[in-house]
Amino acid sequence: MPSSPTSVLVVGATGGIGRRVVAAAQRHGLDVRALVRDPAGAERLLPGADLVPGDLEKPDTLHAAVSGVDAVVFTHGGHGSPDAARRIDYGGVAAVLHALDDRKPRLALMTSIGVSRRGAYGGSTGQLLDWKRRSERLVRASGAPYTIVRPGWFDAVSAGDDRLVLEQTDTGNGGIGRDQLAEVLVRSLLTDTAAGRTFELFAEAGPAPSDWSGLFGALTPDPAGALDAAGDPATLPPVAEEPPAVQDDLARLAH
Ligand SMILES: NC(=O)c1ccc[n+]([C@@H]2O[C@H](COP(=O)([O-])OP(=O)(O)OC[C@H]3O[C@@H](n4cnc5c(N)ncnc54)[C@H](OP(=O)(O)O)[C@@H]3O)[C@@H](O)[C@H]2O)c1
Repeated sequence: MPSSPTSVLVVGATGGIGRRVVAAAQRHGLDVRALVRDPAGAERLLPGADLVPGDLEKPDTLHAAVSGVDAVVFTHGGHGSPDAARRIDYGGVAAVLHALDDRKPRLALMTSIGVSRRGAYGGSTGQLLDWKRRSERLVRASGAPYTIVRPGWFDAVSAGDDRLVLEQTDTGNGGIGRDQLAEVLVRSLLTDTAAGRTFELFAEAGPAPSDWSGLFGALTPDPAGALDAAGDPATLPPVAEEPPAVQDDLARLAH
């Protein structure tokens, strides 16, 4: 069983979800390190966090950020174009995992509902989701204990939607509060039964969870050594059909 982390690096810390993850991790007593591109600008946004400069597109800048942390939460994102998705959404995960070298901290990766629904979305959305799906494969290949959260639509929720719904078919649709998502990402680091699980996340009317171990523990673990999630369709592309850079990243992480 993974031991409970005491420090965490938040990637995408200045973003809408990342800021909330920083606050949630601080509430849970973790030492929080925030990866930021502009430390001066981030100071006001992230009081109490240790701001570490770094740019996901410049892998050499990431070594200080990952040094000595027990956990990493990935909440970063480009702005939707397929090229930004490749360079940032996917490339940022690759760069941080490579910077970790042979260290295996607890990981929490935020991607999106729909990553395994290939063909359901065309154009740039389909390509964005494909890059996020590939980033999931890197995390599973890393050998580090991980949780992958595929959130529904941010803040498309109503008052009283406090019940969390965790699914593993990637066929659902619905909303999740940004604060709820941040809390789930941090709880996943702190709850042994969340390790090795991938799930979609929604909220609906009902009470907030009180048994986090039971909530995560009810999920099916991803198959040991597999690149895809427990509920993913068998039609996802084999590694040989991924772009060459992805094949290289997977091979590097496997060593
Ligand atoms: N909207 C939805 O309903 C929904 C649903 C599911 C999933 N998602 C996914 O959620 C993500 C957006 O989350 P959000 O709203 O929290 O994003 P956001 O507010 O746009 O934040 C993005 C974060 O990524 C950081 N970042 C971008 N490029 C970087 C780089 N090169 N180096 C270091 N950091 C970098 C940004 O830092 P700076 O402050 O320096 O720019 C910022 O902290 C998207 O990927 C989207 O696909 C969205």
